[in-house]
Parts: sequence; structure tokens; C-alpha cells
Amino acid sequence: MPIIAQLVDLYRAEGIEISTGLPPHRFGGFGGAPFTWFLKDGKSLTNGLGIAMQEVYLLEHLFAAIQPRRALVIGNAFGWSTLAIAALLTGGRVVAIDSGADRNSLEGLDLTNRIATHGKLPAKAVRGVSPQDVASIVDAELGGPVDFAFIDGLHTSEQVVLDYKAVRAKAAPDAVYLFHDVQEYGLGPAIADVERLAGQMATMLWATQSGMAILFDAARHPELARAVAAFAPPESALKVVRQAAWDHRHRHIARWRRSYRKRLNRLRGLAGGPPPV
Ligand SMILES: C[S@@+](CC[C@H](N)C(=O)[O-])C[C@H]1O[C@@H](n2cnc3c(N)ncnc32)[C@H](O)[C@@H]1O
Repeated sequence: MPIIAQLVDLYRAEGIEISTGLPPHRFGGFGGAPFTWFLKDGKSLTNGLGIAMQEVYLLEHLFAAIQPRRALVIGNAFGWSTLAIAALLTGGRVVAIDSGADRNSLEGLDLTNRIATHGKLPAKAVRGVSPQDVASIVDAELGGPVDFAFIDGLHTSEQVVLDYKAVRAKAAPDAVYLFHDVQEYGLGPAIADVERLAGQMATMLWATQSGMAILFDAARHPELARAVAAFAPPESALKVVRQAAWDHRHRHIARWRRSYRKRLNRLRGLAGGPPPV
């Protein structure tokens, strides 16, 4: 079932307006436009933006295919992804940790817990720093192995590997790991390390705004490959779209050159200068 309307209602009940899914090309090419903004009195409340609308759609696909019993989120901010996961769980629970690094993210923990209570969602957000607090928080709050992890804390390759190792030490062998912002923050080296540690390949979800990656054992979760297929177009398709984008950019330049030449020729004509170019 779609959950965006439910999430927007829950934040509005807290006096917070949501903007999510805006197309960058209508907002000056701004890459931040599609992500989820939390607004009050005409101001953005945090720099810890939530996952984009299409990324929530991805979660809807994932949890239609698998139903984790214990989910962990590293990087809660204002709770958008934590609450989205909670809204999609039919029997499990999610715990989220946040160190408080981003603006107002500690207030975001209280907000998340208030919304979870009000919306009767199985989520809890706690203060904690990854990697050092992961094990104790999993033990205290989930009481068993993690079977789904969403890693969206500090966006450096070194940290993402530390996050993965900390979760993996407390995870079930068939756990599914979803990484946010892989393309957006150039976290490819982290994913390569994670693949080496896991002994399996991740899938790059190109059709997500942040460029997410997902790691799962296809033999244990055959249904997941189908669920993510539309978010992971084949390389042959990406090649065609990349070429079209390149052509489009160059058509733009060609048009600009034509108009520049026309103006130059007009000026030359007026000044009685050399023949037009
Ligand atoms: C991009 S925001 C998370 C957005 C959130 N997942 C969502 O979709 O709504 C990243 C968050 O990670 C937190 N953070 C950064 N480093 C962390 C760490 N080492 N451990 C836990 N949280 C961390 C920041 O305080 C920030 O709130």
C-alpha cells in the first residue's frame, strides 16, 4: 500500500510541511530538490534531508517482497525513512540511531518517537554513534539479529564500511543492506569494499535520486531481484540514455553558437566589416 499520504499527514499533525520529489530541472538543476524537506514558518528545519519520493516508492517495492522482523536505520535525521519503513512493516519493528551531527537531528529523535506513537508505528529512534553504539543498541532495542539495514549516516567511504561491519556483526546471514547516497557522495569505493567483505555483488539502483545500492543474497531472496528490477536498468539501457543526454547538451551548445554567430554577423554588417561567418 502507498504510504506517502500517511507520512505527510503525520508530519503535518506536528506542524511540519513536507516537500518531496521535486524535479531538479524545474529548480535550476538543484540536485537537492527531489529529497524530502521539512519546513516550518517558511524555513527548512534540518540539513539532514529525507529520502526522495521515488526512494520511498522503492521501499514500498522492497517490503512488498520481504518482511523483515528487525530493521535498523543508521542516520535518522527527522525520521522520514525510519517512519516510512515502520509504515511498511506488517509484524516487525525498526530502530534508528542518530549521533546528532546534523542540524536539529537530536530534536529529530523526539519528533520521530512522537510521530511513531501518534501514528501507532513500530519505530523507535535513539541517540547513538555508529559504529561504536550499534551492537548495544541492537541488543537493547531489537533483541535479535538485524534482517534489514538502511545505512544513511555519515557519507564517507570509510564510515560506510565501518557502518556495514558494525551492522553485519549483529545481523542475520540473509540480511538485506540498503545504502543511501552512493552515487551522490561518490561512495563507490565503500560499496566495492562491502562487496569484498560480503563475497557478493551489490546492485546499483540508478533509478533512485541519491543513487542507492542494495546488497542481498539472491539465492536467499529471489523475489528481491524482481522487486528492484525497474530501479536498476541494465547497462545497455543506461548507455542509450547517457548518449541521449550528451546529444541534448551538445544541441544546446550548437544552438547557442548559431545565435552567437547571427548576432556577430549583424554587428559586422552594421559596422560595414568583413563578410559574415
Ligand atoms: C542524511 S541524514 C539521514 C536522513 C534519513 N535517513 C531520512 O531519510 O530521513 C544523515 C544523519 O546521519 C547522522 N549521522 C552522521 N554520522 C553518524 C554516525 N556516525 N552515527 C549515527 N548517525 C550519524 C546525522 O546526524 C544525520 O541526521
